[in-house]
Amino acid sequence: MANQLLAGKRGVIFGALDANSIAWKVAERCVEEGAKITLTNAPVALRMGEIQKLGEKLGAEVIPADATNLEDLEALFTKSQEVLGGKIDFVLHSIGMSLNVRKKKPYTGLKYEWMQKTFDISAISFHKVMQTLYNMDGMNDWGSILALTYIASQRVFPDYSEMAESKSLLESFARSFGYHYAKKNKVRVNTISQSPTMTTAGSGIKGFDDFFGYADKMSPLGNASAEACADYVIFMFSDLSKMITMQNLYHDGGFSNMGMAPEILE
Ligand SMILES: NC(=O)c1ccc[n+]([C@@H]2O[C@H](COP(=O)([O-])OP(=O)(O)OC[C@H]3O[C@@H](n4cnc5c(N)ncnc54)[C@H](O)[C@@H]3O)[C@@H](O)[C@H]2O)c1
Repeated sequence: MANQLLAGKRGVIFGALDANSIAWKVAERCVEEGAKITLTNAPVALRMGEIQKLGEKLGAEVIPADATNLEDLEALFTKSQEVLGGKIDFVLHSIGMSLNVRKKKPYTGLKYEWMQKTFDISAISFHKVMQTLYNMDGMNDWGSILALTYIASQRVFPDYSEMAESKSLLESFARSFGYHYAKKNKVRVNTISQSPTMTTAGSGIKGFDDFFGYADKMSPLGNASAEACADYVIFMFSDLSKMITMQNLYHDGGFSNMGMAPEILE
């Protein structure tokens, strides 16, 4: 259901890889709500071709950018302002990748070169996105910047491996940069901590299918879907959430506050 909550706003959406991606659903909802957006992803992801189809469907320009590369980010935001016709009102950082997980290294045998790359892709890129926009004065006052995270940043989920530390860092960047951006432009910065979701990044985690079912039983409302996450993102991009900043916001059907669920024992 569309209410034109984002009418007149301009946004940049990182991380739509295929139709399962959380960013894909967010992009669709943003346009439904009246926003103009650009889509971006790493050049290697663009080669898969799926994102171009989304771009065509939504009338959104697709601009390649490796989120770890400052020159790419500057070019992305310059081009986005050009095609959208002004400064940016909202940004979604929906990026995650672990080299050690992908290469099946155990947590007690991580390769540090890969860990640094993981942190750069999954967390430091968020700081780079914000610093680039901050220094080019690319955000409108009262804009909204979001990144997606997972509760393994705060509690131990052994198979999440070094992505746990990536997400802790990501959430910390939201708090710290949130201070500076609030002071400069009243821009708010938050992270949304989403339920396990069946996507390429999600299902890369060992035992994901079983874990998905466990989390679903543990959450009184069940796992939050990607579509529900997109709705929450729309609220956070809209003017209805103007005074929310520097927060890690759980969007998880209640999982984060549960101790024990009788359903698991049955
Ligand atoms: N799926 C889950 O269970 C779940 C749960 C909580 C949070 N999240 C988070 O949601 C976000 C989106 O993931 P998703 O589940 O939609 O999976 P996804 O695989 O569809 O999205 C991850 C995206 O990161 C992009 N990416 C990787 N390296 C990049 C780079 N160098 N530059 C730019 N983009 C790059 C990929 O191309 C891909 O589009 C991630 O931050 C993920 O950690 C996912």
